[in-house]
Amino acid sequence: MADKKKSGNEKKAREFMPQLASELKKRFGDQGEPRFFRAPGRVDWLGSHTDYNQGLILASTVDREIIVAARLRNDGALNCYSLNLDLEVRASLKKNLPDSAHGFANYPKGVLNELAGAGVILPGIDMVFYGDIPIGANLSSSAAIEAATIEAALGLADSPMTHWQRAFVCWRAETNFVGLPCGILDQFTIINAKKDCALYLDCDTLASELIPFTFDEYYLLVIDSGVGRHLVKSEYSKRVEECRAAYSQLRKSGYTIASLSKIEPWQLPEIEPKLEPVLFKRTRHIVTENQRVSAARKVVSKKDFERLGSIFEEGYRSCRDDYENSSPELDILHNLLASAPGVTGTRVAGAGWGGCLVSLIKNVDYQKIEAAVGAKYTEKTGKKLRFFPVETGEAPGEIIIA
Ligand code: GLA
Repeated sequence: MADKKKSGNEKKAREFMPQLASELKKRFGDQGEPRFFRAPGRVDWLGSHTDYNQGLILASTVDREIIVAARLRNDGALNCYSLNLDLEVRASLKKNLPDSAHGFANYPKGVLNELAGAGVILPGIDMVFYGDIPIGANLSSSAAIEAATIEAALGLADSPMTHWQRAFVCWRAETNFVGLPCGILDQFTIINAKKDCALYLDCDTLASELIPFTFDEYYLLVIDSGVGRHLVKSEYSKRVEECRAAYSQLRKSGYTIASLSKIEPWQLPEIEPKLEPVLFKRTRHIVTENQRVSAARKVVSKKDFERLGSIFEEGYRSCRDDYENSSPELDILHNLLASAPGVTGTRVAGAGWGGCLVSLIKNVDYQKIEAAVGAKYTEKTGKKLRFFPVETGEAPGEIIIA
């Protein structure tokens, strides 16, 4: 499988470790060697927008990662540099507030702020980041930065914390500090999933299962539509509000459910007249998407990848028609992919509204798919596609240099 999906000559993040160490010393002083920590990106397989509705998700890590070179210092400073963005931020652990001028650094700052709230107080820290997770490709480079930061902070402070707590600290960094009202999908997957496993999570009970599997002749291909995700923040918040409104209308109509995810599929016809049409569509998506996650969980353990592909397609249609988190360009791309060789099924990756699709591919080099759809897509939209074949990746941790 690996040969079918090789992503060209791109350098892996670990090759930049010596450069991270020298940047750290050059920028923040020559006192002491750094240690290196890492965290992977994630790809969601099913469960679009179910997480903040206490629903079900199926996702995995990817074989792309964020690396951070980090060391403690004793003057209370919080120093960050991104080699990808060439952006340096000098802040303070004592007055650690969100700042739009700090860009990516708000993610590590948020994690350190939440850690301090949880009693993990650092004396000061230097961090230099590099990643091979493409930015804006729905592979959650931001949650990977958060996870790499918490690995570094806890590792350097020699402070224990369960995986479950780590995921929540990172999630609070994103929701409280950065300000996106997201669910737990990204942080939980990155911190709890493992290589060669899919992670199933019930976001209500937080019961999770690691399902071991190998893709054999299949792989996942993330395809960036080239349409920026500028709508994400506003549309995402709007959907969160719509789901809350649907829930409260149903409660007022006498349904004593704990969340939209507790609605059974057979109840849909009966609740339809009780909701405004748009809220009914949002609810139907959540209910049917949860069903798709349950179905996919079973087919992954049986390695019935053909069925998984058709569940991807059902998920895509539900996003397009009911949750409306697709976009005209994603719809064009989806239709082109439908007749491309090897494409077993395609769905909207991550939040949607631009960004990426993810396809399950059988036994075909991704370059052939690029050749089949790339030029046609550019002709129709004026945008250029980017292709990222992914495998599952290692869980977060320290990189020990032998
Ligand atoms: C983004 C959010 C997640 C989740 C997905 C949609 O990735 O960060 O919490 O809601 O969108 O499933």
